[in-house]
Amino acid sequence: MHTILIATEKPFAKAAVNGIAAIAKEAGFELKLLEKYPDKATLIEAVRDVDALIVRSDIIDEAVIQAADKLKIVVRAGAGYDNIDLKAASAKNVVVMNTPGQNANAVAELTFGMMTYLNRNFYNGTAGVELRGKTMGLHAYGHVGRVIGMIGKGMGMDVYANDPYVEKIFIENDGIKYIADQKDLYRSCQYVVVCLPASKETSGLIDYSLLSIMPEGATLVNPARKEIIHEPSLLKMFAERKDFRYITDVAPDCGEQLKNEYGDRYYATPKKMAAQTAEANINAGLAAARQIVNYLTKGDKTFQVN
Ligand code: 3PG
Repeated sequence: MHTILIATEKPFAKAAVNGIAAIAKEAGFELKLLEKYPDKATLIEAVRDVDALIVRSDIIDEAVIQAADKLKIVVRAGAGYDNIDLKAASAKNVVVMNTPGQNANAVAELTFGMMTYLNRNFYNGTAGVELRGKTMGLHAYGHVGRVIGMIGKGMGMDVYANDPYVEKIFIENDGIKYIADQKDLYRSCQYVVVCLPASKETSGLIDYSLLSIMPEGATLVNPARKEIIHEPSLLKMFAERKDFRYITDVAPDCGEQLKNEYGDRYYATPKKMAAQTAEANINAGLAAARQIVNYLTKGDKTFQVN
């Protein structure tokens, strides 16, 4: 019998765990649950005898993979798999998958929640500004960027997107204006939303050369990963441009400094929470469970990333 372990430092909603349990039961698999675990040693102990792992942003590094003697598959219930050591997994013939798109709506909704929170001065009762009629640029047009674009249009924003990996026609068919050069996106948009994955290529990509050309009153919005933003550039922007604002779902390393010195123009959620909805947990968690069953029973490798 195969064993699946759900290892989530940030637990799924109960309905998602119940749904995963039902899929495991139907397949004749055993399910184990490790939530809010205190340290890596606990995770390492828990993975020793499992065949499959479902994780979120949990760090699955070489030590964890090495300790998991029976491990055959890891599914990241979500989009970004920068938390998983793909090389170590491949070296041990462990398949790694993600569940693309399953939590995109939750991430998109929180993005607008953060934008409104900042625009209404943290709900302090003073007059704020609206999103309608403003320009928004999507830096990357994957699942998350696409939903953000749709909602932005619904709110009356003028939406642009730049993504060298997506056909111009695909973006234009959604009613979004295509921008070929990423510099032009930053030059023309009052709000730029970072929808990029974290990778070697994107690490520190958003730097002073892009931020400094943003228009007056510009806001950088980051529902993705902190590593994509070049932090010295961020600090320089805040120091030089009193109109520049930054909102993010993952606090940067310099977050405390930004909060103390520029608290009226900066906001970070206390804990990464864009995908933390019951619906997203159910969508991504159940997809992960199905992908594991399909791989272990039929060899289906759809959504493999390594
Ligand atoms: C993702 O990459 O899917 C999101 O950032 C969500 O991450 P989380 O599962 O840790 O909330």
